[in-house]
Amino acid sequence: MNALLRALKPGTEEWILATALNPTRMPRHIAVIMDGNGRWAGHRHLPRIAGHKSGVDSVREIVESCARLNIEALTLYAFSTENWKRPGLEVEALFRLLRLYLRSELSTLRENNVRLTAIGRIDGLPPSVQTELAHVMDLTAANTGLRLNLALNYSGRAELVDAVRAIAASGVPASEINEETIERHLYTRDLPQPDLLIRTSGEMRISNFLLWQIAYTELVVSPTLWPDFRCRHLLEALLEFQRRERRFGGVEPTLDEASAGLALR
Ligand code: FPP
Repeated sequence: MNALLRALKPGTEEWILATALNPTRMPRHIAVIMDGNGRWAGHRHLPRIAGHKSGVDSVREIVESCARLNIEALTLYAFSTENWKRPGLEVEALFRLLRLYLRSELSTLRENNVRLTAIGRIDGLPPSVQTELAHVMDLTAANTGLRLNLALNYSGRAELVDAVRAIAASGVPASEINEETIERHLYTRDLPQPDLLIRTSGEMRISNFLLWQIAYTELVVSPTLWPDFRCRHLLEALLEFQRRERRFGGVEPTLDEASAGLALR
């Protein structure tokens, strides 16, 4: 948090938003559905790929901001299993951009103590992407700051299928399977549940993302298209998150109940 304030110019919009944040109520894990790259390009009469290219600048800024805010984990939905249905050239461009990002950001990730991980059916990615990913994951494995987790060739349903297969293969009796068993077999087993899920571009959908993990996650939908999404928008989403009352299925005691509780003591 302090690192972000130090990096911002006092009096700017970002600085004002950052000073309004309550540092004791920050999310541990933020997940993001980066949406609207195609529309961003369309509005400018550019090919869709131009939107993805600009989207990489947003990735850079949001990763840096989360690192400065001391967020524990950031999961970005970068390529879904459904994205294979896009034209071949767009799919190729997405992987090219990902490789470029990994290559060009490695030193910044290391300087900022960021650890890169990935979730999804990674073995279904093009071999060149797998190699680059493995290289960056290896070189950042010991970093203790932000965990940047890329969801690649990912879908929430496929993750559940993989978990069920792994549980079945482990031979555990059906009667012993509980929620914890499932949690332990998810790709995200070593991550806290996301506290905040941000979706850009105004769409009100989950799109097969972290279906199990978001049971109690706060959703914030930003109308901003992903290539325009900057630190300011992230801070706005965080302030919205801090205005929410999280009850995890319980209830906040009313004044009457609270005084009844006191009377019983
Ligand atoms: C959704 O926009 C975005 C994607 C499917 C890909 C996101 C990828 C990047 C931002 C670039 C590479 C990623 C990293 C981590 C470096 P859309 O194309 O569905 O937009 P639309 O709904 O407006 O068509």
